[in-house]
Amino acid sequence: MDLLFILIGAGLAIFVIFVSFKSIGAGIAAKSEINRQKDKLKSDEIEKEEEILEEEELNGNEKGLSSNTFNQIDDVLFEIDKFKNIKFLNTAATKKFGKKLQGKHIATVLRVPEILQNIDVVLSTKKNKKIDIELNNPTFQFFSSYIILNNQNSVVIFLKDLTEIIKTQRLRSDFVANVSHELRTPLQSIKLGLETINKGHASNDFESQKKFLPILFQQTVRMENIVRDLLSLSKIELQEHIRPEKKVDIKKIISSVIEMNNEILKKNEIQAELKAPDNEYEILGDQDRLTEVFSNLIDNAAKYSKKGKKIFVNVENNEESVIVSIKDQGIGIPKEYIHRVTERFFRVNPSKSKDVGGTGLGLAIVKHIINQHRADMDIKSEEGVGTEFILKFPAI
Ligand SMILES: Nc1ncnc2c1ncn2[C@@H]1O[C@H](COP(=O)(O)OP(=O)(O)OP(=O)(O)O)[C@@H](O)[C@H]1O
Ligand SMILES: [Mg+2]
Repeated sequence: MDLLFILIGAGLAIFVIFVSFKSIGAGIAAKSEINRQKDKLKSDEIEKEEEILEEEELNGNEKGLSSNTFNQIDDVLFEIDKFKNIKFLNTAATKKFGKKLQGKHIATVLRVPEILQNIDVVLSTKKNKKIDIELNNPTFQFFSSYIILNNQNSVVIFLKDLTEIIKTQRLRSDFVANVSHELRTPLQSIKLGLETINKGHASNDFESQKKFLPILFQQTVRMENIVRDLLSLSKIELQEHIRPEKKVDIKKIISSVIEMNNEILKKNEIQAELKAPDNEYEILGDQDRLTEVFSNLIDNAAKYSKKGKKIFVNVENNEESVIVSIKDQGIGIPKEYIHRVTERFFRVNPSKSKDVGGTGLGLAIVKHIINQHRADMDIKSEEGVGTEFILKFPAI
């Protein structure tokens, strides 16, 4: 009997254990099913969110254009409302035109009447417009602009920067015209000289031939100088809109330029005096290009001065600028020509300039480097008294 009870008890226990295991198993299975469903819901939600984001990025959301997408592009983009205030601008626009422009009138950054008028035209006609714009202040810039209807009350202005392409095109045609004109003279001298040596009266006369050689050499050097200066000019013109970002010390640069020009100064018996009371005069600049600027100005001051004269170089600091003055006691520039000396190939007295090896490109190069540094150059001159070049670089 006892055994029967024990057997029944054990059977019951096994049954209970089996049932509870089964229900635990079912519980676990149900729980994991719930978790699976939850995970599915979550991933569906994430997918949905991603889709919405993608859609917003592609089409722009209701609040305005999605910044994410438009901040990735290198071209400038503004969203403008019907009052012509800036609703949105992308990173490229901030880089080019500055920060804190949201809410400001578009004319504060783009003072281009054609753009301003055409915003109204696009809003009223609902037809997009494409306008080419050329800005010349502070430097040459060229944009193809698209004014595109965004919705009833706003337009998008998209500026494609074509500055470098247009500059290259214009430089190429200018370059061809300038080079052919300026190279023709020395080339003709060389041709004539060679003809005389080859077939002319000097063909059998060694002494006459020897006389021609220095002229041929001089004209070849002249051609070489023109080509070198033209290349230098076209390089700086292409990069003029990129402002240098490195800190340089103007005093150090001028000191080394005076040192470098010692030979021409000695040859012309001219003394250069540098006055710069502070230890440092730092600006944002390009060391090599600034060396080119001061070399040109000191070289001119020496070339266009009589023997025994002085050159005074003064450097000054104030809150807004670092000011450099290079003043000579030379022949001076006639009043009517002062504003022309920075033109390519302009020389007050071409034969005098050619005698001293000048190409007439020095000050054109200087002007572009000064523009690149966002600096100003002022020229004061009086015939027979002297010339002063005053350069103002923005303080850091
Ligand atoms: N300090 C100066 N005094 C008098 N005339 C000057 C002075 N600087 C420039 N000029 C005049 O301006 C012209 C243009 O100067 P620029 O430096 O561009 O050319 P350059 O000296 O003739 O040639 P380069 O600089 O290429 O050797 C000169 O030919 C000269 O007539
Ligand atoms: Mg010069």
